Amino acid sequence: MTLHCEKLSSHMAAAVDGIDLNRPADPETQSELLKTLHDNLVLCIRGQTLAPVAFRDAMARFGTPMRRVQLAQTPECADVNIISSEDRDVQGDGKRLVNGASWHTDDSFMREPCSLTMLYGVVVPSTGGDTQFINMYAAYEALPAETRARIDDMKVLHKYKSSRTNRVAVLSPEEMANMPAATHPLVRTHPETGRKALYLNPNRMEEIVGLPRAESDQLIDELVAHAIQPQFQYRHTWRQGDIVIWDNRCTMHKANADYPDGERRLMHRVIVAGTKPF
Ligand code: OGA
Ligand code: MN
Repeated sequence: MTLHCEKLSSHMAAAVDGIDLNRPADPETQSELLKTLHDNLVLCIRGQTLAPVAFRDAMARFGTPMRRVQLAQTPECADVNIISSEDRDVQGDGKRLVNGASWHTDDSFMREPCSLTMLYGVVVPSTGGDTQFINMYAAYEALPAETRARIDDMKVLHKYKSSRTNRVAVLSPEEMANMPAATHPLVRTHPETGRKALYLNPNRMEEIVGLPRAESDQLIDELVAHAIQPQFQYRHTWRQGDIVIWDNRCTMHKANADYPDGERRLMHRVIVAGTKPF
């Protein structure tokens, strides 16, 4: 099997085609896919037509799928969630609900956040609905040496709903009370590549452990402003049949709800288990 690989920007993201994940990739191809992901942080596999079980099985070659009961699940496979333009804010005013519309990494409020997220573009809009990414290795490496030395050993408390944001929680008060919180390093070492990355999640970071609140807020604000600069970004324009796999350990991402009203966007989603950040 020949994998054709194309860089999607100068500093991150690559696309491969010439592969049909309905048939399990042979071990060599599978390790090439994983290497392409590790080298490029975001891996797009083009041209797939996968039923939910086949999608889950293909993604299970990258890690152990984790079930998310908070999101809608496909009837065929409970490990596959549905992200849809039909999602509506049922607790609020019934407006279109957009998951992840601001910069984030998935599930940092958990002790062991998922390592990878996979989105499969089943139906994509004719325009808009891109997903944006940030290279958090590059953001870390571009910091002045003094800043890197200052922050290297800092720890951050992450909460499902941090007091730093006025974002409304989609969970009920009861669900909120049961949500875990976690303390993670501000700079994490990727367990596979050994590289250091800034580990930020603007809506979930509560405070830097041991700093006065004002100083913590200021440093978080500065680091976020630094990381989201255009030179660290890649913007993915979806084609139907794309599977986009991103590595939450070294990227942030955000959704865009700018596609025309009345157009559909349907994604199937799988996440795989990660380990405790260090
Ligand atoms: C997610 C997410 C972005 C998008 O599924 O975790 O943030 O563009 N999705 O749908
Ligand atoms: Mn997300």
